[in-house]
Amino acid sequence: MAGITFKHVVKTYDNGVTVIPDLNLEIKDKEFVVLVGPSGCGKSTTLRMIAGLESVSEGELYIGDRLVNNVAPKNRDIAMVFQNYALYPHMTVYKNMAFALEMRKTPKAEIDEKVREAARILELEPYLKRKPKELSGGQRQRVALGRAMVRNPEVFLLDEPLSNLDAKLRTGMRSQISSLHKKLQTTFVYVTHDQTEAMTMGDRICVMKDGVIQQFDTPQNLYNSPCNMFVAGFIGSPQMNFIDARVEQADGGYVLAFGETRVPVSADRIASYAGKEVILGVRPEDLHIEPEMVAAAGDAVIKASIDLDEMMGSEIYLYFQIDGKKMISRIPSKYAAKSGDTVTLAVDTDSIHIFDKETEKAI
Ligand SMILES: Nc1ncnc2c1ncn2[C@@H]1O[C@H](COP(=O)(O)OP(=O)(O)OP(=O)(O)O)[C@@H](O)[C@H]1O
Ligand SMILES: [Mg+2]
Repeated sequence: MAGITFKHVVKTYDNGVTVIPDLNLEIKDKEFVVLVGPSGCGKSTTLRMIAGLESVSEGELYIGDRLVNNVAPKNRDIAMVFQNYALYPHMTVYKNMAFALEMRKTPKAEIDEKVREAARILELEPYLKRKPKELSGGQRQRVALGRAMVRNPEVFLLDEPLSNLDAKLRTGMRSQISSLHKKLQTTFVYVTHDQTEAMTMGDRICVMKDGVIQQFDTPQNLYNSPCNMFVAGFIGSPQMNFIDARVEQADGGYVLAFGETRVPVSADRIASYAGKEVILGVRPEDLHIEPEMVAAAGDAVIKASIDLDEMMGSEIYLYFQIDGKKMISRIPSKYAAKSGDTVTLAVDTDSIHIFDKETEKAI
């Protein structure tokens, strides 16, 4: 059992480029942590440093209490599952899972017990005699997980393990990996650039950009209280709407003003920005079309001329523009608004986000 701690870790590749400038991160024992961020932000680099496949240029990396900067990968008690899981094609499923243990000269009976246990948990028992090419993508991915499991690692590292699978299989494997984590009670570090995967699987999510942690928090907190515009835009689908607004005084309080719209804000939150421009963030689900909400919203409404409607089943996505910028509203599909219509949408004033225009930090 082990947590993982990065203390001022720097990673500079041989070409002299520093991709991780100063990483401080504490992953708890048994936690499921997801590293998420755009391509090239340093997720795989971070994971590969934990695995020992990349060296740490500066700082300290601990697995449990042990400083591992100079510990060889095979002595770290970790197992890694990659996107391209590279099973041995000529070996059966059983042999694929047993192979690493055989190399370590583990007694045969013990190998058998571990392989069968992993096969039971991963529901691979019917396939043990098959070769990888006789399996579906999801089954192969489970064999790759099984190969990691039989080693009883203290830490599981997974780098985009589902990105080769089609959407439906991915959803199924997502919940299988989550339940595997619950069963095994070990630390999981999972890399993805898919925010849905991150939100559904992580106990905590570490959002990275350019090698720098933006926010490390629970899915709920990332969604409800993003610390800056990057996190706000990255978490949530469709993306949060960002609207330029002015902070104005009105009726003894404050409003965010744009066009005809006036969104009230509490004085303690915004008084220091009086007269300034800020960025208002509103999630698509916080723009409401229900007539009773529009009636109650006063001037906190947006008149939207719909450019495009997308029927998603239970809801409709409405696309419109404010000052030439694309906006989206998610409405229940029983309100049959469509492109060409002009609709009035109420801003849920309790759920708005406000950002400093210069620093892009949440206010
Ligand atoms: N061996 C290397 N030598 C030099 N630069 C590298 C090396 N490996 C990765 N990089 C660079 O380090 C940065 C981070 O790469 P990394 O693979 O960690 O990104 P990532 O977040 O995993 O991206 P993706 O989502 O595309 O997998 C990138 O700019 C990449 O080009
Ligand atoms: Mg990567």
